Amino acid sequence: MSKPTFYITTPIYYPSDKLHIGHAYCTVAADAMARYKRMRGYDVMFLTGSDEHGQKIERIATEKGVTPKEYVDDIVAGIRELWKLLNISNDKFIRTTDDYHEKAVQKIFEELYRRGDIYKSEYEGWYCTPCEAFWTEHQLKNGKCPDCGREVERTREESYFFRLSAYADRLLQYYEENPDFIEPVSCKNEMINNFIKPGLEDLCVSRTSFRWGVPVTFDDKHVIYVWIDALSNYITALGAFGEDDSLFRKYWPADIHLVGKEIVRFHTIIWPAILMALDLPLPKKVFGHGWLVLDGGKMSKSKGNVVDPVKLCARYGVDAIRYFLLREIPFGADGLFSNEALIHRINSDLANDLGNLIKRSESMLHKYFGGRLPAQQTSGAPDEELTSLAGEVKKNAEGFLDHMEFSNALAEIWRLISRANKYIDETQPWILAKNEADAPRLARVLYNLFESVRIANILLTPFMPETAALILSRLGTDKTGWDDAVWGGLPQEFTTEQHDSLFPRIDVETEMAYLSEMTAPKPAMKKPELAPTIGIEQFAASELRAAKVLSCEKIEKSDKLLKLTVDLGWETRQVVSGIANFYTPDQLVGKTVVLVANLAPAKLRGVESNGMILAADAGKEVRVVFLPDDIPAGSKIR
Ligand code: ME8
Ligand code: MG
Repeated sequence: MSKPTFYITTPIYYPSDKLHIGHAYCTVAADAMARYKRMRGYDVMFLTGSDEHGQKIERIATEKGVTPKEYVDDIVAGIRELWKLLNISNDKFIRTTDDYHEKAVQKIFEELYRRGDIYKSEYEGWYCTPCEAFWTEHQLKNGKCPDCGREVERTREESYFFRLSAYADRLLQYYEENPDFIEPVSCKNEMINNFIKPGLEDLCVSRTSFRWGVPVTFDDKHVIYVWIDALSNYITALGAFGEDDSLFRKYWPADIHLVGKEIVRFHTIIWPAILMALDLPLPKKVFGHGWLVLDGGKMSKSKGNVVDPVKLCARYGVDAIRYFLLREIPFGADGLFSNEALIHRINSDLANDLGNLIKRSESMLHKYFGGRLPAQQTSGAPDEELTSLAGEVKKNAEGFLDHMEFSNALAEIWRLISRANKYIDETQPWILAKNEADAPRLARVLYNLFESVRIANILLTPFMPETAALILSRLGTDKTGWDDAVWGGLPQEFTTEQHDSLFPRIDVETEMAYLSEMTAPKPAMKKPELAPTIGIEQFAASELRAAKVLSCEKIEKSDKLLKLTVDLGWETRQVVSGIANFYTPDQLVGKTVVLVANLAPAKLRGVESNGMILAADAGKEVRVVFLPDDIPAGSKIR
């Protein structure tokens, strides 16, 4: 009989920023789920990848002076390294720049066009480049992107549209008939009330104003909207619309798309509508998780407050970090990444509870039995309590894991670990050890401790794969599968070595200092050498005036200099400025700039300059200080 299949995906990540612990959070959760399902006997397909097209990437690459492909290659290599470090067991990694994916996306687009679900028209509206999202006027919040609060750009271009509006009723019906499709329920209500009920508009699905995307085959000045490209990854990765679609036939529809809450909309409205239009089955579940935030708000590179997962893993170990992420934050809700909590979890849960249970058991086995447990054993109170708890914990952990409640599942496993620690205090092995006649009882007590360790670590395997496997291998048992997590798996006669603790206690003060330094918002630059302080009268000696650029041209025989004529309100002036590498004349004409109007005249390459235009050194670039257009020429600036 063939195994049941389980297909789970993470979002594919934009290679725009260095990945931080927030990204790791979702991928670690998906990994724990994938590992759990494999242990439960499923044939698992676990997909992750990178989302590499779009205006944002094109812009960043241009700013950095590299091609978009060069730019993404570099960052994607880093993403893959990070997943390796975090022990992510993905079965596939898709890049949207992969050739097979681009071809399949083109076919999907053609197919939607052929079926009449895509048509050509003109788009006029707003675009948020960081989110790669279209917005209508009334969707904007205070004129800004309602999702991220950043500036939007007016966009008007010939575009292809997807008939999203035609799918509102079918979407609502699908939600109704499949109550588990969107989780948590709060996400579902938001989709219905904020997006579908107010009316779905057709979606603009192509762009002509930039090039970094998958071209539309039948109209190649258009590139396909990056979200159509990105969402398709979930089926193209399996070979849909490609040469061999056997994986697609095997694993689709997905069991879970795991996504951050801000992109639930794309996954529960746009994606299902596309699939409906293609006559394909819909994913069984879209699960929207919360954000990991720092004390100062959502992590972001611009704030400089990101927590670097590579540094964390190097310092505390991969499994400690995986454990912390899944234990500390109830999956679904936003969660605070707090330094105190991380240290506490490592010291209290891992070093104390788990680490000490193992260390004490091993050291007693060696002290009392020379490292080898005898077969002759006697049961007694409270063995029954411990053994039945182990069964209960397994059952509860399964229930929680089936609903992605990682934190609750771990709390269950810790009930067993804590109970086993308490069992040591109750049975007092050191007293039993004093009396030769109590040896069989003492042997049973130790057996029960190692059984607790074994069962707990089987259940911990999806969360802390490396540590759990190591602990289990030290027990010398091959009873390590999920179904082996029942009492009695260890042979009675059994031996193990003594080991150093896998989770030594860490020093609270030292680690607080280390973590505070890492997560403190960093100033963007080092303090430069500043000119000596001056008085206001010295500043007032500079005559700064608003000047309108009337004309501008390059100065021959110089690649740096531009000659400008500016209007000062009472006269016009000729000025030379060294900004030709950063501006073309038509980017300056009509603009209002700041002129140092009382600068002594000078000749540059033989051309007279009467004043200087203010500009900022922005990294390697120079940016002119532009004033708002409504400031009259000649206005004094002070
Ligand atoms: O949205 N805490 O990519 P992305 C938790 N390419 N999760 C976080 C987080 C944080 N602090 N910051 C980001 C995209 N994430 C698209 C997806 S899928 C077809 C295309 C999560 O790199 C975020 O919620 O901006 C999202 O689910 C994921 O990282 C990828 O974000
Ligand atoms: Mg995002």
